[in-house]
Amino acid sequence: MSRKVMIMDHPLIAHKLSILRNENTPSVQFRTLINEISQLMVFEATRDLETEPVDVKTPCGVAKCRQLSGKKLAFVPILRAGIGMLDGVMELVPSARVGHIGLYRDEETLEPHEYYCKLPHDIAEREVFVVDPMLATGGSACDAIKLIKKRKPKKISFLCTVAAPCGLEKLKEEHPDVDIYCAALDDGLNENGYIIPGLGDAGDRIFGTK
Ligand code: PRP
Ligand code: URA
Repeated sequence: MSRKVMIMDHPLIAHKLSILRNENTPSVQFRTLINEISQLMVFEATRDLETEPVDVKTPCGVAKCRQLSGKKLAFVPILRAGIGMLDGVMELVPSARVGHIGLYRDEETLEPHEYYCKLPHDIAEREVFVVDPMLATGGSACDAIKLIKKRKPKKISFLCTVAAPCGLEKLKEEHPDVDIYCAALDDGLNENGYIIPGLGDAGDRIFGTK
């Protein structure tokens, strides 16, 4: 099966994004919205999970049902802003394991620098969803996925809220086997490497820093 690159096209996501982007939206509402959007995205990103038949006894008979068969998922937020998506996705898949990758972008060079990496010990048996609200130059996403690939997971998908075209192209080129889901694809980057129109600094808006 060829890999998926999906720019989400859904009225609920579009509506929530319009409030998320607004510079006057406070952190408390920003956090709620980014989790809600992530939840809607993971709903789509898990569409191909395998299921198996199961008979379930209801009060009125036996229902032919389906349950997840693989069940082994892991979410990996890229610190810090990726943490803002975690509650939303975990609500839909509470049994998933969570790994963390810490990367910060040098403000001058825009190069990512790793400062933390802790992944589930059995990640090789899991399907991994990397989450980060922003795909700007693509450097952070590509490096995080490189780190995860060393541990040979079954599959990797990347979920972001807003992507810039150059970041999306870099990710597609460097990781042609990774499915990509973006809530929005924006116009480009400004001279400081911020997505335009974007939503500003996602980490600062989630955590109320700055
Ligand atoms: C932001 C964002 C991504 C990265 C995207 O993190 O959360 O990880 O920038 O930019 P890139 O595609 O050009 O690499 P940042 O480095 O600002 O760190 P923070 O989450 O700790 O604020
Ligand atoms: N990181 C952010 O938080 N926002 C951007 O627009 C780009 C990178």
